[in-house]
Order: sequence, then structure tokens, then C-alpha cells
Amino acid sequence: MSAVSSRLPVFPWDRLEPYKATAAAHPDGIVDLSVGTPVDPVPGVIRNALAAASDSPGYPTVWGTTALRDALTGWVERRLGATGADHRNVLPLVGSKEFVAALPAQLGLGPGDRVAFPRLAYPTYEVGARLAGAEPVAYDEVTELDPAGLKLLWLNSPSNPTGRVLDEDELRAAVGWAREHGVLLVSDECYLELGWTAEPVSVLHRDICGGSFDGLLAVHSLSKRSNLAGYRAAFAAGDPAVLGELLTVRKHSGLMVPAPVQAATVAALADHEHVGEQRERYARRRTALREALEAYGFRIEHSEASLYLWSTRDEPCWETVGALAELGILVAPGEFYGPAGARHVRVAFTATDERVDAAVRRLAG
Ligand SMILES: Cc1ncc(COP(=O)(O)O)c(C=O)c1O
Repeated sequence: MSAVSSRLPVFPWDRLEPYKATAAAHPDGIVDLSVGTPVDPVPGVIRNALAAASDSPGYPTVWGTTALRDALTGWVERRLGATGADHRNVLPLVGSKEFVAALPAQLGLGPGDRVAFPRLAYPTYEVGARLAGAEPVAYDEVTELDPAGLKLLWLNSPSNPTGRVLDEDELRAAVGWAREHGVLLVSDECYLELGWTAEPVSVLHRDICGGSFDGLLAVHSLSKRSNLAGYRAAFAAGDPAVLGELLTVRKHSGLMVPAPVQAATVAALADHEHVGEQRERYARRRTALREALEAYGFRIEHSEASLYLWSTRDEPCWETVGALAELGILVAPGEFYGPAGARHVRVAFTATDERVDAAVRRLAG
């Protein structure tokens, strides 16, 4: 029996452990800006919905309750600017990471098929390709890809790790190219609500997709938008033929979002106020850290959206990680997101105000 794990890269975060130990030894404690996990409270309106649905003895369905599907289609039309979304256009996910990792296999891809993703990217796109035995392909420009054997094309805007936002022309070009070559385009839009100096647009917006879901999926997550990383709440929206096939596969696999989390998702998508409040918290932390990093000698690239500052001192990323660890600040080496990140670090501004202020003080020396 061949170990599936042998197809996968070394789990990168293990390599950060020694730096974490160094940072944790700082007398005022570690400021962990590495992982990008939400730290602020789950909004009350969501917790109440979860609690009210806690008496859920029966199995939930993979497709979700009618109320959940209504909430998803409503949000897709309202927030994303899509038109004509019905229940066949949505599919609940147990957090989006499981979907990213499992999608190539659930689509039946394997040896001989190719899966493309941005050169600097969330590592799970490559992991998904490798788990399926498909060939991972990193691209700089979608339209320069060789379409031979290409079955799945990932976009990620706003991007993790760079915070880059694809503009409407770039999105339209990618959609046009994918449709021309019959390649399924899946757009990971989990940071869509977190634009700072650019307004992220969905591939499902009527002006991008031309009012048709053909050949397109968008992936959305409530982890960042609503501080729900611990709930595992996400969904895909788009092409009904692709989602119908995935629904069948996922029913057989028992990939059900727990019933209380489905209820919590309905409440979360109905409320925009908490999103605005959370955005304000992040905006403050982002500005403070950005100014401190720049004053310290960093150059910040892209970062117009998402929860990260893509930063460089024009030196190997592990040197930067080491220098910041000495200040008790832990960041992610850009190399985790591909060799092209070898001279950058990703600084998440998901720490509390108190920890962000501590980092700012330390950077100011
Ligand atoms: C680009 C991207 N996609 C997907 C995810 C997964 O999010 P979740 O599984 O919490 O929905 C993350 C998490 O950081 C991410 O950065």
C-alpha cells in the first residue's frame, strides 16, 4: 500500500516551530501574526442562532435546509451581484478548506489531468491536485496557460498570501479563456468582504459572467467575514451541473454541515452589521502594522485586500522570520506559498488590538 501522504509536501507550519519558540521567549510574550486565525468574538446574533438550533438530534442533509439554501442564493444575488440563483446553484461546505483539498478527486480528476493555480497561492490548491494524482500547474497569467489536459483552474481574489485583487477586466479575461477551452474555473473568494483599497468582485457578478453560471464556481467562507473559522461554515455557488454532480458524491461521503452551524450561517448571512464592525477592527490593525513595518524598513506589496500584509526587506524570507522572532513577532515565510515568495513574509493582522500594539511598539524599538 502506497502512503498517500508521500504525494504531499512537508506540512510547512512544522518548520516554523523553532521560530515560534524564540518568539514565545520574549518577556512580553509572543505576537503571533503567522496563521491568520480570527481572534474576535463570534457575533451574538450568530451564537444565538447556533444555540437555538442546538436541539438537533437528526442527521442534517448535505444540501442543507431550505432556509440555508434560501440564505445562500439570496446572498449570492445581493452581495455578489449574480442573477437567477436558485437552489441548484448552491452547495454548503464544511469549511472551504475541505472543498479545496477534495475538489479534484470529487470531480474524478486523476493522472493525466492538470489543475492550475496562481504561482503564489494558498498551498491547498496544490494539495488537492496531488491527492487526486493530477498534475499541479502554477501560473502567472491565466491566458498564458497551456489548456491541454487542464481540467480545473483556480482563481483566488483577493489573494492569500499577497492580498492582490483581480480587476474586472482580468476576471472577464479568465472567464472567457476558461469557457473557450472548456476548463472549469473555480474562484476562491473567501476574502471578498475584506477589500481595503480595492473593491473585490465575484466571478459570478453579472458583468463578469454575463449572467450565466456556465463553467464557473465561486467558493465562499464565513470563517473570516464572520469570525466563524471554528464553526466550519462555507459554500460553493455556480454551475448547477457541476454542483449537482458534487452533491451526489458528497452525499455518499456524508459531508454534512452540522444543523446548528447551518442555522448559524443563515443568521450570519442575514446580518451585515457585524461584518462592518469586524472590518473596522481589521482596518485599524492593518494601518497600525503597515505603518510600523514600513518605518522598520519593509516594503509592502499588493495587500489591497485580505487579512495580510505581503512584506519584504529584500532578503531571504527565513532571515526576516528570524529577525522578527527575536522581537517576539511570528510571521509566515513567503516560501510557504511557493518558491516565488522566497523573499517575502506574510504578516496577518488577525491578532487582538493589544497584541498588535505590542508588535507596533517593538518594531518602533
Ligand atoms: C485562500 C483561502 N482559501 C480557503 C481557506 C480556508 O478557509 P476555511 O476552511 O476556514 O473556509 C483559506 C484559509 O485561510 C484561504 O486563505
